Amino acid sequence: MSFDDAISALSTDALKFVKDGYVIGLGSGRAATAFVKSLAILLRKKNIKVRGVPTSLQIKIIAEEGGIHLIEADQVEKIDVVFDGADQIDEQKNLIKGGGGALLRENILINAAKKVVIMADKSKFVKYFNRTVPVEVHPLARNTVVKSIHTLGGKPKIRTIERGYPFITENGNVILDCDFGVIKNPKSLAQKVKLIPGVMEVGIFTRKPDVIYKAKTNGKFEIIT
Ligand code: A5P
Repeated sequence: MSFDDAISALSTDALKFVKDGYVIGLGSGRAATAFVKSLAILLRKKNIKVRGVPTSLQIKIIAEEGGIHLIEADQVEKIDVVFDGADQIDEQKNLIKGGGGALLRENILINAAKKVVIMADKSKFVKYFNRTVPVEVHPLARNTVVKSIHTLGGKPKIRTIERGYPFITENGNVILDCDFGVIKNPKSLAQKVKLIPGVMEVGIFTRKPDVIYKAKTNGKFEIIT
């Protein structure tokens, strides 16, 4: 039994939060992918109709393959429930997101959601954040934002893909992965970074999820509410 077994088991359990007629936010990444695959099976088996709002092309493709009816975020004002993964979760239930670069759309949906369900493996749970924070930045502001991040005590590094090409988000921006060491006051840090001109989104989300699934190594999971 592995984390993957636990992620698959918890994504089936999380289907209990889906109701007929719901508008569902579909996060990005491994956990969100497992959930969307389970959702597709549920919709095929039962006579339930939902509309999915994807946070990235990655999850859009998975949802399309599953035959899920999709709409874009600007076609709805409210999302009934969002299912997403996380890169880190601190003791206060703040999240670091954006490991896959989908942070801007993820935050739009989480902000519009009545309920937020987060699914992550045990290794992502920490007392205080201690990994880099993804910051989505307009390309023209790249160097000025780097300077401001240094002023805030961070060490920014532009995210690259193979052969050194910059990673470009679906919104045409770059990502600075910023090392702030151990983060004891994530809300204050997120507010400061967000105020820097040219910053489009900060991967520290301080809206507390309503439900958190924690996948364990033995293939089981725990629910934190
Ligand atoms: C996408 O940008 C991220 O916020 C993902 O939700 C996050 O990286 C978690 O992904 P995994 O479920 O693949 O670990």
